[in-house]
Amino acid sequence: MTDHPIREAVMPIMTWDDSLDIGVHDMNREHRDILDAMNAIYDATQAGKKGQPVIAMINHLGAVTARHFRDEEIFMAKIDYADLENHKRVHTKLLKDFAMHQAAAVAADGVPTTEFFQFLRLWLAAHIKCIDRKYADYSRAPKGAAGSAR
Ligand SMILES: [Fe+2]
Ligand SMILES: [Fe+2]
Repeated sequence: MTDHPIREAVMPIMTWDDSLDIGVHDMNREHRDILDAMNAIYDATQAGKKGQPVIAMINHLGAVTARHFRDEEIFMAKIDYADLENHKRVHTKLLKDFAMHQAAAVAADGVPTTEFFQFLRLWLAAHIKCIDRKYADYSRAPKGAAGSAR
């Protein structure tokens, strides 16, 4: 075995696995894009990059996310998802928090804070795995039995 005194393994924020699969193809694809964009920022930061290239990656994550939230809200409206308004509110809050972290990273010349990465991990773990899963389950649930008129 070779010794690695400071072996800070470059680990992804999260790798794609079945726990992130909500069973809605288009949304899964966009979630993967978000995951890739997050990991790109993390890898670049771990490799010591900063400045404009990292800021551009953060901006890219912001753009991919805004587009995804829009698409997801259209999808939820299409399936008459009862909790759409609450879900929209959560998206708005996520975008607001993201903008705050984005501004902090820009002010720090493209060096994101540890809190930024914690925020990204929580987003994947709590939002996609739990909150997004609910509309996905709803989209597959048999309609009519519990009354889906609203
Ligand atoms: Fe989502
Ligand atoms: Fe969502």
